[in-house]
Amino acid sequence: MKAYKGEVSNLPPDKSIAHRAALIGAIAEGVTEISNFSGGFDNQSTLGVLRDCGIDITQEIVTGPHGHPARQVVIRSSGLWGFTRPAKELMCNNSGSTMRMLAGMLAAQPFESTLVGDSSLMRRPMRRVADPLRLMGAEVTLSAEETAPVVVRGTRDLRPISYELPVPSAQVKSLVAFAALHADGESRVIETLPSRNHTELMLGLEVEEFSDGRRAVVIPGRKTIPAKPFLVPADPSAACFIIALGLLCPDSEILIRDVCLNPTRAEYIDLLVESGADVMIENRRTSGGEAVGDVLVRYSPSMSPLRISDPGTVANIIDEIPMLAVLSACATGEFELHNAFELRGKESDRISAVTGNLGRLGFSCEEFPDGFSITGRGRIPGGRIAVESYHDHRIAMSFAVAARALDADVDIAGEEVIGVSFPNFFDIIGALEA
Ligand code: S3P
Repeated sequence: MKAYKGEVSNLPPDKSIAHRAALIGAIAEGVTEISNFSGGFDNQSTLGVLRDCGIDITQEIVTGPHGHPARQVVIRSSGLWGFTRPAKELMCNNSGSTMRMLAGMLAAQPFESTLVGDSSLMRRPMRRVADPLRLMGAEVTLSAEETAPVVVRGTRDLRPISYELPVPSAQVKSLVAFAALHADGESRVIETLPSRNHTELMLGLEVEEFSDGRRAVVIPGRKTIPAKPFLVPADPSAACFIIALGLLCPDSEILIRDVCLNPTRAEYIDLLVESGADVMIENRRTSGGEAVGDVLVRYSPSMSPLRISDPGTVANIIDEIPMLAVLSACATGEFELHNAFELRGKESDRISAVTGNLGRLGFSCEEFPDGFSITGRGRIPGGRIAVESYHDHRIAMSFAVAARALDADVDIAGEEVIGVSFPNFFDIIGALEA
């Protein structure tokens, strides 16, 4: 089995922050410069649909802080009402964040637009988008299955709203906030469970804490958003795959630089440390309003199985669950997850995707409606083992790591989907091979 050693200073920029930087740039007044934007398909889809809505966007490759190529995006907008009627359907490809968060902005524009995506995105739940926007006065229609196409007939007269999120979703929180920025008065989005808080941080929104633990994000209506620069840190969700590789492969030692450590994103690192993983944070600092640090990971042969059920924890680690499950399976043969029904509505049904693929690798798995358990490993089948990406970048990367950790010959059907968030995944792994 190979060891993985060295430094990673070209991890992809954070996908969630980059989407928001582009969207906020599109409604800010003036020129927004975004340093370290991602070349991943999802973030590029956001730029594409914004251009289709008439927003002026340029993108160039410059030399980043560690000497690697980095993308610099410049967005020019006249402010909250700078969109123009798109001449065609807005193609969001695989990106749920693009579709949902842009729908919030389109709800305030006085024209009709239609949001569509690839076959995976066309299956994802969109009722959560339509409900709050209808309450605010926009007309939104969905398919009979409450999926895309999402047709938004926007209005300049959006009503302010006080909206408690029915599901813990940062995308829904953000789309309501983006719509509410255009409403005639102050709005509140209330969450009972925490979800990633980049939108609040990037817009400088006030957050009220209730005594019962709920939080309300306060959104002033129709206030000019002055353009400001954004610097995107490295993506902790991408770091998770490299961390797992380092923990699982003997003699590995990897330093990952400039990783976003926002507590609503990095809780998975705490879980790993509690389970006996050798992960250390160095050079902790604040950069562009976000907590950032360098992550040092070493091979960790004596981790204990991960067992996850706290709903708040599940919300904070939602994107890392496939990798954490596969990591726990490879390291210990065991894993258990509850209260994660939301995983069924991601780029794939991640509960059946992970258990299906682990089954093909010889693990015993049991599915629950809201989770699954892994109760042991059997013999890895010999020869080339076929698994599926399920058209889901995080599933493909989780099993690319598993293949290396188990030293198995694994063929991942459709692995090119990794480009959605991590176009240089195999380059980085190749450069770390000792
Ligand atoms: C995201 C929020 C999460 C996450 C997704 C990105 C975001 O989705 O799974 O990858 O950037 O707000 P939900 O809001 O649906 O939980």
